[in-house]
Amino acid sequence: MNFPVYRPRRMRATENLRRMVRETRLSVDQLVLPLFVIHGKGIKKEIPSMPGNYHFSPDTLTEEAQEAYSLGIPAVILFGLPAQKDKNGSEAYSEDGIVQQAIRQIKSASPDLIVITDVCLCEYTSHGHCGLLTESGRVDNDATLEVLARSALSHCQAGADMVAPSDMMDGRIHTIRSVLDKNGYSHIPIMSYAAKYASSFYGPFRDAADSTPQFGDRRGYQMDPPNAREAVRECRMDIQEGADIIMVKPALPYLDIIWQAKTSLGYPVAAYNVSGEFSMIKAAAEKGWIDEKRAMMEALTSISRAGADIIITYFAKDAARHLNRL
Ligand code: PBG
Repeated sequence: MNFPVYRPRRMRATENLRRMVRETRLSVDQLVLPLFVIHGKGIKKEIPSMPGNYHFSPDTLTEEAQEAYSLGIPAVILFGLPAQKDKNGSEAYSEDGIVQQAIRQIKSASPDLIVITDVCLCEYTSHGHCGLLTESGRVDNDATLEVLARSALSHCQAGADMVAPSDMMDGRIHTIRSVLDKNGYSHIPIMSYAAKYASSFYGPFRDAADSTPQFGDRRGYQMDPPNAREAVRECRMDIQEGADIIMVKPALPYLDIIWQAKTSLGYPVAAYNVSGEFSMIKAAAEKGWIDEKRAMMEALTSISRAGADIIITYFAKDAARHLNRL
């Protein structure tokens, strides 16, 4: 029988000893690969601000997802770019929306790969905010909840294994949980972007997802970076509303938050190693200022050491190759 054999690099005895007593063991089991999907066929277009990441059409996306799974990565998280944006973000919940199409294709090719979906409106609204707006241009929290729940439900109907609301509206976990339960999806877990900071590190993603707000910013609904206790409170609220996994985002500038969320709540914690964290390492490595592989492994290990069970990272494939010693 042919099965993979673990072949360590040649190591000295001291290195082998270090290997035995290491306190943190980063594993491919923890990794989630984010993927961007656009309408079309045969498209694989590199995102300039995120080297090695692409806009895929559903067919090429399915191949990429298969490759990730063959490297041992258990899950992907999908972000969609709609054909048309409008003020209500209607493609977010359309049965034939881009994410819904992508889920169906990936699941039919790789039924065992976990497909997580990002639930948010910012990629779908013409104004680029994460929610609907009132006449006066404010984000309308309560009206948004219904649309988010509709999107989450449409993802489940297309075959998603888990939904991840990233909008930061108040009460969304409760609304999504009850709509999923009522429609026969009580088994689908919710990974909540619970402590999501208003961060500068989302810059490259906003280029990739074309989701920069057309006016104002997200400080009305995302968290203020100096606040830590508030983050734990946000996580606790989301757990009470029915979240199964809580997420801290970004990861590296917020390792203390990951640690506090893990130690004070004891729930599964995910950390999002966001686009800016990724692109900084890439850019420095391109200039020859930093050793990319070592920096990547050190960063991911620190996120795990801080207490993250799950790490969402654009490095997932490279890290998996490294961890598999390929
Ligand atoms: C919102 C969303 C964002 C990211 C994931 N989901 C952007 C934002 O809040 O502006 C950022 C991820 C990254 O930077 O890698 N749908």
